[in-house]
Amino acid sequence: MPNWAAVILAAGKGTRMKSKLPKVMHLLAGKSMIEHVLDLVKKNEVERSLVILGHGREKIEEFLAGRAEIVIQAEQLGTGHALMQALPYLDGVDNIVVLSGDQPLIRPETLAELIRIHTDSQGAATLLTAQFDNPYGYGRVVKDGEKFVKIVEEKDATSEERAIREINTGTYCFNVAKLREALRRIKPQNAQGEYYLTEVFDIFVTQGEKITTFCTKDGNEALGINSRVQLAEAEHVLRERILHYWMDEGVTIIDPASTFIGCEVKLSRDVVIEPFTTLKGKTRIAEDVILGPQTTLEDCVCETGCQVAHSVAKKAQIGPRCNVGPFAYLRPGTVLEAGVKVGDFVEIKNSRIGQGSKVPHLSYVGDSQVGQSVNIGAGTITCNYDGINKHQTIIGDNVFIGSNTNLVAPVEIGEGAVTGAGSTITRNVPAYALAVERSTQKLKENWVRNKKQ
Ligand code: UD1
Ligand code: MG
Repeated sequence: MPNWAAVILAAGKGTRMKSKLPKVMHLLAGKSMIEHVLDLVKKNEVERSLVILGHGREKIEEFLAGRAEIVIQAEQLGTGHALMQALPYLDGVDNIVVLSGDQPLIRPETLAELIRIHTDSQGAATLLTAQFDNPYGYGRVVKDGEKFVKIVEEKDATSEERAIREINTGTYCFNVAKLREALRRIKPQNAQGEYYLTEVFDIFVTQGEKITTFCTKDGNEALGINSRVQLAEAEHVLRERILHYWMDEGVTIIDPASTFIGCEVKLSRDVVIEPFTTLKGKTRIAEDVILGPQTTLEDCVCETGCQVAHSVAKKAQIGPRCNVGPFAYLRPGTVLEAGVKVGDFVEIKNSRIGQGSKVPHLSYVGDSQVGQSVNIGAGTITCNYDGINKHQTIIGDNVFIGSNTNLVAPVEIGEGAVTGAGSTITRNVPAYALAVERSTQKLKENWVRNKKQ
């Protein structure tokens, strides 16, 4: 949008979070609050975002590099003072939208509507409000009939004003020229001795400037996060939004109450999610996949028709029609080609398992390349680590690894070869050979009977 910019206030300390981490860096549905707000701005095609930083700024600055312009408010003297810091950077900008870094639940369509109303009205300011049953702590919007009168903070309000349920969400659009003029005139004469941004409204009213209010229907959008309890409340709201969105898109979620889906996860139609399942990061799930119960996937890709139950996977790629679990652990770099079976108590790391191969039980496969239609017997271990370095195991197509085989890497098992159960394989096995490494079984006939006599 031409000549618009967003200013995001985020210099406050967030004392009540009791955290090393700056407040706006706390995560909601897997994404930091400040990113939620920046994404909201971006979805509205406002190109410039200025973030006002103060407390803990070093930790946020690094994170925001290249994503937003940073403006420092060295001393936190109030929301009005915070916005003053942005003015020198707003030359040539006609209108701004002001948001708070700790209010990440505003919907893109609500902000779009606020911007549209501001553009149409051509007024000095447009204010996003909400109706709260319990408005405690928020600035109240005082009106005379439909006419805007002022915003009064909780600490400065009379008991009559405190009864007002329409609150200031802290999200506004301003005409920059008029804002400059008004900010010059505000003074820290209030209960908190701060420069209140809300005081510019008093100045606009005195000057007869046009102020429009827009009340959102969804009060949750105004939720400000000041404490861990509010963080959990916001998480709950966002989680329900995400779950409803995916159900509307054709995903079956058996038990929404025990399902957690991060805001960057992408699902497809006819995916079924069983209870107690968490999907995180940039996980991508194709059609007809069945996930859960009790499954956690982070940054994974699940291709069409695969199933994962009672398992944990991170940065793994699970091919079409694969069957994973119960109790499998797929670590980063795992690639399962089509139709692979990974069963119970199997751990796979940094390995590719070829089409149709099976690792059905109790195995560790690390740093390996496994061909197609391979059967890996129960209890097989790739001994990939010699205490200093990691080494590769290469297994050709149609290999049969007998149960309880140790494959001491680096080692290569040629196509179609077989290893005998219980073998420790330390040398390469040529194609179609049998490798057995174990002592010959001794038999003592009637040993037990003789002993008992
Ligand atoms: C503010 C509004 C109140 C509104 C509420 C909505 C004022 C005076 N009051 O109150 O009407 O109902 O938000 O949540 O504006 N910040 C700075 N620098 C500062 C002070 C604050 O950057 O010097 C930032 C904070 O980090 C936060 C935002 O501004 O992101 C709002 O500040 P906060 O102290 O939470 O204001 P409230 O008291 O909640
Ligand atoms: Mg606040």
